[in-house]
Amino acid sequence: RIAYVNGQYRNHGDAMVHVEDRGYQFADGVYEVCEVARGYIMDMTRHLDRLARSLAELQMDWPVERDALVVIMREVVRRNRVHDGMVYLQVTRGVARRDHVFPASAKPSLVVTARSSDPQAATARAEEGIGVITVPENRWDRVDIKTVALLPNVLARQKAKESGAAEAWFVDGDGTVKEGAATNAWIVTGNGVLVTRPADFGILRGITRATVMDIAAREGLEVEERAFTVDEAKDAREAFITAATTVVMPVVRIDGAPVGDGRPGAVARALRDAFFDNAE
Ligand code: PDD
Repeated sequence: RIAYVNGQYRNHGDAMVHVEDRGYQFADGVYEVCEVARGYIMDMTRHLDRLARSLAELQMDWPVERDALVVIMREVVRRNRVHDGMVYLQVTRGVARRDHVFPASAKPSLVVTARSSDPQAATARAEEGIGVITVPENRWDRVDIKTVALLPNVLARQKAKESGAAEAWFVDGDGTVKEGAATNAWIVTGNGVLVTRPADFGILRGITRATVMDIAAREGLEVEERAFTVDEAKDAREAFITAATTVVMPVVRIDGAPVGDGRPGAVARALRDAFFDNAE
């Protein structure tokens, strides 16, 4: 495997950043994960627009020009022969003597990696559906910035795994679902309306979420952007999650209780199929 690190394509095992990189010391960096389907990087423009916003919010510079980044991402996908999988990119504020204040002159570090995944295994998972647990929201209020500071997400996902589930939904004090540890959350009401939380400052503005909204509009499905509670989700006809890594994944259990008839729903399945048709 090959990784890109600060201007060089290295063997994955030899790809290193400095011990004084601020990503390592302060989680002072941002990232993107893009789905690769049939060799194509999906939704590249939207991912780079979101990266631009994350960088701007943290007053960080682009490590390379945007066009150059596109070339690097494609090159990393090509060199790793990824047909289906994902490409990961991370930008940190760079290497400097440890000090909380921004360094006067540090060059942002850029790392790009890619890896393959097994589309058959993902399809099999989607046919089964997954379970989610709920956990209290304990993150900062700028989760709209896609930073690498993901410790609450890591702990939530670990707890999900230990509970026999695949994802954890962060729940606000008022009982409404925010989003998953690394996915956005959706339900389908008894009337067939898709509901997902507004992408204000409470959640990450998911790219897959945006693409699913486009697909829903095209298919004539109604989407309501509003908060929903855990109880409403448990009573919903369907539930599902979206992310570049899972695309559309049906949720069949919430805290152990079945959603709908406990099987993946028709809407989630149709959206998943439509997403991959988009990749043609
Ligand atoms: N996570 N919410 C959170 C907290 C996320 O970390 C992600 C993505 C999403 C979905 O966004 P998108 O559709 O743009 O992937 C929502 C990535 C995949 C990760 O951390 O691996």
